[in-house]
Amino acid sequence: MLAFLWAEDQNHLIGQAGHLPWHLPNDLQYFKKVTWNHTIIMGHKTFLSLPHGPLPRRRNIVLSHNTQLQLSNVEVVCSKELLLKLIAQDSQVFIIGGSQVFAQFLDEVEYLYVTKIAHQFVGDVYMPQIDYCHFKLVQKQKGIVNENNAWTHEFMIYQRL
Ligand SMILES: NC(=O)c1ccc[n+]([C@@H]2O[C@H](COP(=O)([O-])OP(=O)(O)OC[C@H]3O[C@@H](n4cnc5c(N)ncnc54)[C@H](OP(=O)(O)O)[C@@H]3O)[C@@H](O)[C@H]2O)c1
Repeated sequence: MLAFLWAEDQNHLIGQAGHLPWHLPNDLQYFKKVTWNHTIIMGHKTFLSLPHGPLPRRRNIVLSHNTQLQLSNVEVVCSKELLLKLIAQDSQVFIIGGSQVFAQFLDEVEYLYVTKIAHQFVGDVYMPQIDYCHFKLVQKQKGIVNENNAWTHEFMIYQRL
């Protein structure tokens, strides 16, 4: 099962200056729950945005063209083809961004786990356009808004038809 997992604002914005444009702890908890014990794939820029490096209890795979790059507790791959071979036996694989990586797997992705945040933020990286005609909504859950989670948000899961 190959899935995308991301959060976006009302304009499909996902990043700002190498980081997330928002602080939404509910979404970080959801991310952890969904990816726990599974494989996560990310671009080098997204990896650099992780404050504590590789995420524990998950198989971390990072895409980079730099064949000399070595990162502890991370598998580094330098092409999509090698990546697909590497994950062939994995049952649950989540591509966690960023935009450059999502764009390369639009034809293969089977599930979309998207957190939609009902706000407009400032930023510089957007989700590539997804043709939702090829997907059906299978789950939708409202997030709880409180003093730590200021914006209305919903967790949606789409499955390819
Ligand atoms: N809102 C969300 O859910 C979310 C999720 C993830 C990321 N983000 C945000 O998105 C931004 C980063 O996204 P981005 O699109 O700029 O970068 P990215 O996709 O995270 O990383 C791009 C880098 O990945 C490597 N790469 C990509 N495709 C490759 C391939 N086929 N083969 C080898 N290497 C490949 C290259 O690294 P090298 O330059 O090393 O070759 C490339 O420069 C950040 O602001 C981050 O916080 C947001």
